[in-house]
Amino acid sequence: MKAFKNNVTKCRREFDKSVLQIKSEKSLQELRNHYLSRKRGQLTLLFEDLMALKPEQRPIAGQMVNELKKDIQEKLQSLKKTFKTEEEVVERTDFTLPGKVRYWGAAHPVHLFQAEIENIFISMGYSIEEGPEIETDYYNFGALNFPPHHPARDDWDTLYLKDELLLRTHTSPVQIRVMEKQKPPIKIVIPGKVYRKETPDPTHLPMFYQLEGLVVDKGITFAHLKGTLEYFLKTLFSEKIKMRFRPGFFPFTEPSAEVDIGCTVCEGKDEECRVCGGSGWIEILGSGMVDPQVFKNVNIDPEEYTGFAFGLGIDRTAMFAYQISDMRFFYENDLRFIRQFLLK
Ligand code: PHE
Repeated sequence: MKAFKNNVTKCRREFDKSVLQIKSEKSLQELRNHYLSRKRGQLTLLFEDLMALKPEQRPIAGQMVNELKKDIQEKLQSLKKTFKTEEEVVERTDFTLPGKVRYWGAAHPVHLFQAEIENIFISMGYSIEEGPEIETDYYNFGALNFPPHHPARDDWDTLYLKDELLLRTHTSPVQIRVMEKQKPPIKIVIPGKVYRKETPDPTHLPMFYQLEGLVVDKGITFAHLKGTLEYFLKTLFSEKIKMRFRPGFFPFTEPSAEVDIGCTVCEGKDEECRVCGGSGWIEILGSGMVDPQVFKNVNIDPEEYTGFAFGLGIDRTAMFAYQISDMRFFYENDLRFIRQFLLK
């Protein structure tokens, strides 16, 4: 009887050990056969041993074997269930279906480009300033040395609101706001939206972005302006970009210069180029030395300080950098267009 009891315990221990190794339906089946098969299964053998015991020992021995059998059957059954569910999951999953892609939204290409420009100026020690989009006539024009009723005002097709208020036509009024509250040295760039009464076409929009630059200190010369813009444009486009300074006019700078770059689309080789009109040059910036009268308007002594300023259209420049033929694409919210820039 003792030997029988040992055999039952041993059988249970071995089963518990083997059960931990089971990884597939096939090995589960093998384990089942090993213990429960009618011919030569471990339990069948135990039942045969039981018959060899004395009749009075059989009920207790029988109970032991039956308990073991029940435990083994239960364990095998629950294992079988886990394999079933795994199998069913595999059957129900169609791995050929396209995955679910969630679109989280992202920065707009014009803002990405703005950040690229800002980073170049930040690397040169500039800081960023901002100002209001609704302005007074004084900040947008008067303080910038536009005399009242002067024809120069007509170049900025202004959208007027009521009571002397207007939508700023350029970012230059923020020059005045900064110089009023901060004394030189000043070294800033000012990005922001500006508005003009324009009918949209491939190169004009009633709302667009500008980036203004202003440097004021002792001994600032036109050479600083030229060197700064040259470094900026070469970093933004390429070392090989061609550029030229043309005389220009702005009431708030003297002398003034317009800056052109060699056409990024045809490189001056296509007489019918839609971007440069065949001239090989595209106008990209307005610039100049701060007019002494502007300094007087903000109580900075023009005998002591000089400075330069420039303004460029961010979306306009993005158009040339990305070689886009129509600026309106940026604002039509067609995600097929917008998303192209996110991969960069
Ligand atoms: N504000 C001018 C424009 O909108 C650009 C400019 C800025 C020119 C600063 C000179 C200096 O056209």
